[in-house]
Formats: sequence, structure tokens, C-alpha cells
Amino acid sequence: MKTFIEPIVWNPAEPSRLFYQTRQRRPMLDKAEGIYLWDRNGKRYLDGCSGAMVSNIGHSNPRVLEAMRLQMERSTFGYRLHFENEPAEHLAAQIAELCPAGHDRVFFVSGGSEAVESCLKLARQYAFATGQDSRWRVISRNPSYHGSTLGALAVTGYRPLTDPFLPMFRQMPSVPAPRCYLDRDSLSDAERGIRYADMLRNKIVELGPETVLAFIMEPVGGASTGALVAPDSYYPRVREICDEFGILLIYDEVMSGAGRTGCYLAAEHWGIKPDIIALAKGLAAGYVPLGAMLADNRIIDPVLNTGVFQHGYTYAGNPLACAAGLAVTQEILERDLMNQAASVGTILKRELEGLMSEFPFIGDVRGKGLLLAFELVESRETMKPLPATLNAYARLVELAYERGLIIYSRRTRDGIEGDHFMVCPPMIVNPEQIAEIMDKLRDSLKALQLELKLPGVV
Ligand SMILES: Cc1ncc(COP(=O)(O)O)c(C=O)c1O
Repeated sequence: MKTFIEPIVWNPAEPSRLFYQTRQRRPMLDKAEGIYLWDRNGKRYLDGCSGAMVSNIGHSNPRVLEAMRLQMERSTFGYRLHFENEPAEHLAAQIAELCPAGHDRVFFVSGGSEAVESCLKLARQYAFATGQDSRWRVISRNPSYHGSTLGALAVTGYRPLTDPFLPMFRQMPSVPAPRCYLDRDSLSDAERGIRYADMLRNKIVELGPETVLAFIMEPVGGASTGALVAPDSYYPRVREICDEFGILLIYDEVMSGAGRTGCYLAAEHWGIKPDIIALAKGLAAGYVPLGAMLADNRIIDPVLNTGVFQHGYTYAGNPLACAAGLAVTQEILERDLMNQAASVGTILKRELEGLMSEFPFIGDVRGKGLLLAFELVESRETMKPLPATLNAYARLVELAYERGLIIYSRRTRDGIEGDHFMVCPPMIVNPEQIAEIMDKLRDSLKALQLELKLPGVV
């Protein structure tokens, strides 16, 4: 019997049967290959942000499709309490090899929010298992984004997402994210890094160290800060502070992990070994929903010694998802895509920085590897954001979309004002395609400049 998906009559003037955040309609996706997607009218889009920083190895990769097809012919589901499966075992071993020594075991989930929830719950059960019941506070950074479920929101610093739900969860304490590019002081970069890290120490002391369970951070920021990178001195100092007080360090590598910054984990750039790690997005690179939590054996063993880790999801370790994740990881390793992300990322970052001389309203370019972003401002001197009413963050995305370039934007300053744009193409992007991204981006910025009467119009 042949089953097929019938083409539907697509009329953007009519409401969709689906609903997500808004009523905005988008073209119907037809096909995707490499770094491009096509809609049903044949228009081609360059995936300049890998969807939501997900499609790290590009679309329709033949190795991944074949691995999925072969696995589908064997089994697509086996409940984890009934069966172990080979793809999950192989993928866990592969990831463990790429993560710091001691992180030997993997807990699979279906996405980033689930991975973060798992980290929080493992941390708490570790505290129980080791007689530290008084520890429950998880300090996070502001701004930050750790997911959309209520537990992940409790450690998220992004007001439009958290405010409506505040009565429904206990918001955890936070410290400022190290947005040094906004600071106007006489400190060196290294001193600023220490200053921000020490804010964590002060917060721990203020709250009472015996109540603090963990500190969660994105080593390279994602959508809430726009690829924020702290000074090098920040990372080891944070590790030191956590060790001083016996606090677990959780790295949320949902966006920065799986190779996008040029290393498998962004943590590697600073030689940091977190206690618990969340992975998702690039792990199966958009082929299937997949995420993972890794933790040091020293955390997992006491929990399992109590008999049970009280947590789990139906789809954990799904064989099809893990087969796809395994093929994605093999592709990254065999094609040396992490080094490619580092080298092409250097070219792209240089090009983005070059835009600053053409467009005085670009205030900052930041990021690592192919996790890059730029931010618009009214004045570079004061770093005052553009008036929020201009909605530049949404408008530039539309102008680029019209030109066949997809980029990803958010409000930068606590989700309320400021405009940043993530430029994060798949790791397979080549220098010619970087030139194509830059042409379309430049053209879109010129259109924005004219439309919003931004400084520098000639
Ligand atoms: C750092 C970080 N953590 C968690 C999440 C949540 O992941 P998901 O949307 O897959 O639940 C995201 C998603 O953007 C993220 O960037």
C-alpha cells in the first residue's frame, strides 16, 4: 500500500490549521538540501541560521537519510524499560568520547528544554543522595535562555517569556550575564571577566552556600544574548567559585554544543569540565528530535546507588533518533566539520565586523566559530539601543527573508529592547556561500537603513 502526502491548496490569506506564536503565515516548504531550502513556488532560501541553530550539517544529508532508512527497517521504537538498542549505545559511546573524561554516561531526551529539566533534576537528586538536602537553588544568568518548560523557565532570564508564568513556578536567583561590551569602565578584559564571575560568588554568599545547588550557564550565549562570549578569565573563575562552595556547574550547550563553535563542546575553548552538560539542537541536526544530558560519574553514581533516578521521558533513547544522531556525529567527525566551523566562522566574523564601517548602527559583532551575532544600536558610543518601537529586530529578518536569506533575531536587552541577529549557517557552508550571505545581508541592511532612517544613509 502506498501512502503519500497530498499537496494541499495553500492560501496564505486563510488561517492555518496549525498555531504557534502568532498568526503570521510562512511559505509552504517544498524541499531542502545542503544550506538551502525551497518553497512550493520555487523560491530558494539560504539557511543563514540553520533553522534555530539546529541544522548543523545542512539538509538532506545522504548518510543520515540512509542511516535512518536502515534503522526504520529494523525498529523505530523500543521502550527503554523493555529494551536497550544499538544506536543508543553507539551514540552514547561516541558522545562520551567527545566529552570530558568522566562524563561516560548519557541520558537521552528529545530536545533542549527536556535536557535542561533533566540537568536540574539530576542535580537535585544528587544533593539528596549525598545528604545535602538543603541545596535547591539554581543560580542562572540574566539574560539567558534555557527552554520553554516551567522548570527551564525558572532558570531563564528573558522577561517576555517568563513574566506571564511567574506565579506558576519559583523563579531562581540570577547574576548579570557578562555583557562586557556594554561596560564603560577602565577595567581590562581579564579584570571584567573576574568582576562578573565574582558576582556569582557574592550571590552565593548572600543566599547562603548551603542552599545553593548549582549554577547554570550557556558558555557561548544563544538567542537571549546573541552569541555572548565572556572574557577568558571568567570561565575558570566560575569553575573555581563553584568548587569552593561545592556547587554543581551546569553547562547548557544546547546551542553551543555538537561542534558549532569549532569544538564539540564550547567548554573546550577554556578547558573547563562542567559537572553536568545539556546537549540538543546540533546533536541530531534537525533530522529528528534528540537531546541529551551528560554528567560526571561522581554525580550519577550516588543517584543510581539510591536505586532510581526519578525522571524520564517516553521517547528517551529512541532507536531511530539515535541512529540519526550517530550518523550526524560521524559526518561531523569524518568531514572535519568542527575545524571547518572554526575556519569559516573566522571568515564570516571578519565579514560581519567589516559591516560596521558601512553601517554605523551596528554596535557589536560577537560569537565563536559559527555561533555568531551582531547587534544594532542608536549610538556606538553609549550603546543605547534603537527605539523599541522601530521593531528593527523583526524588520531586518523580513527584509532578508524577502531576499532569500534566513537569519534569526531577538530583543537583546532582557527581551524588552535592543536588536540582535544570529548569523549561524550550517557548518558545511563554504566561502562562496559566505559571500552570498554577505551580499544579501548588506542589501537587507541598506533597505533597513532607508526604511527606518537610520544613521549613515547617503
Ligand atoms: C541554550 C538553550 N537551552 C535550551 C533551549 C531549549 O531547547 P528546545 O527548544 O529544543 O526545547 C534552547 C533553545 O533555543 C537553547 O538555546
